[in-house]
Amino acid sequence: MQKDEVLRLFLDPDLVPPEKRVLLSNIADLAASLNMPCYAVGGFVRDLLLGKPVNDLDIVVEGDAIKLGNKLVEIYGGRLIPHFPFRTAIWQLPSTFDLQPSTLDLITARKETYDKPGALPTVAPATIEDDLRRRDFTINAMALRLDGEGLGEILDPLKGQTDLERRVIRALHPKSLLDDPTRIFRAIRYEGRYSFQMDSSTLEQINEETLKVLHSLSGERLRHEFDLILDEERFAVMMLRVAKLGILDAIHPKMPEFNQDYADFLEMDAQLDIQADRRTMGYMLWFMELAEADVILLANRLDFTNELTLAVWAAAQLKRGLVHLTDMRPSEWTYALEKLPLLSIYAVYLVSRENSLLSYISIWRHVKPFTTGNDLKARGLPPGPRFGEILLRLRAAWLDGEIANGSQEETLLDKLLAGQPWQGA
Ligand code: CTP
Repeated sequence: MQKDEVLRLFLDPDLVPPEKRVLLSNIADLAASLNMPCYAVGGFVRDLLLGKPVNDLDIVVEGDAIKLGNKLVEIYGGRLIPHFPFRTAIWQLPSTFDLQPSTLDLITARKETYDKPGALPTVAPATIEDDLRRRDFTINAMALRLDGEGLGEILDPLKGQTDLERRVIRALHPKSLLDDPTRIFRAIRYEGRYSFQMDSSTLEQINEETLKVLHSLSGERLRHEFDLILDEERFAVMMLRVAKLGILDAIHPKMPEFNQDYADFLEMDAQLDIQADRRTMGYMLWFMELAEADVILLANRLDFTNELTLAVWAAAQLKRGLVHLTDMRPSEWTYALEKLPLLSIYAVYLVSRENSLLSYISIWRHVKPFTTGNDLKARGLPPGPRFGEILLRLRAAWLDGEIANGSQEETLLDKLLAGQPWQGA
């Protein structure tokens, strides 16, 4: 793409918000004053050339990115989180910038070698071109020069632009996915997000050897990749692709396919005031049909937090137990459901359309009697287990339609208190 065309995209406020552009210019000016050629790389360039709004800001300098970062903090504020082994840094922008995301990656151009597949790489400082060659796919291996006269020049030594036009995801070398099998997930995300296709040689890299390395990856790394898939609008297509390529089996033989019929349920209904969490919802829907022991097995494999494990486990249990609840009274539903996370109940409602679940979420769980523990005390009932029993009984009466107003509650309460040993004392 010609420089003036790139500049036109770079100046388009719908693609690069003006505040982001000004920030990039300021960083590039500072880098230039330190004699560091400065580039935007990766997803920024890919999305810009696709004419899509840019998101992450990844800056590469031929020079010391930590030194640049420290200067930026000195001038603009915020906080620098350096990673000394790679000479990279994350700059947490000062709140005055009001940008999303609120962090920016500063990278020292580097070369990488992998001592062992799946391990983290060994690095050494290098040129921008070397830095592009260490990356995953051609469409991610382009740089946009930001400083001085060079502003708007695209460095594209691996022909990423051609692959963008051909809508192809192409690994940079034959061992790319073996070196880092998380790149398989990345390729699948780009395929789904942009309707691109892996080229045949990249696809062939997803072979037995690579899947074996994938099998050895930590739960945390794998879950991070699934988290990112669940964040995507077209996640269901991606999950299907993950299954078809044998990735689920490689991670664990019990991994189920994502039920495509559940794909629409990830968008939460804002009207129900439930704390929405897209990823939690995704995992619940994914593992909903599993037996209890398998939920726990996979939650361990993917290093779920306790909270996530509980949510997924509860949804699977409730789905299974639904048949036993069908003919129950509202009070029985309520007492059974009250111990479970609300989001799990909502997930099971979405897939089952069991009306009682919705009644519980929107009405039953809020139903409480007027009478409180203090009222019982005032009426002379000595504190003890009977307190809870009476309050529970009153609540059940409301839930099951036995009483419908305050005076009916009073009458029932009188009846419950009548004949108590202390009565009339
Ligand atoms: N990268 C890589 N191999 C990885 C992870 C990242 O080569 N396993 C490189 C790619 O060049 C990528 C860049 O690091 O473009 C930034 O990574 P990341 O922010 O994860 O990806 P983005 O390209 O920004 O893509 P996305 O839009 O999915 O975040």
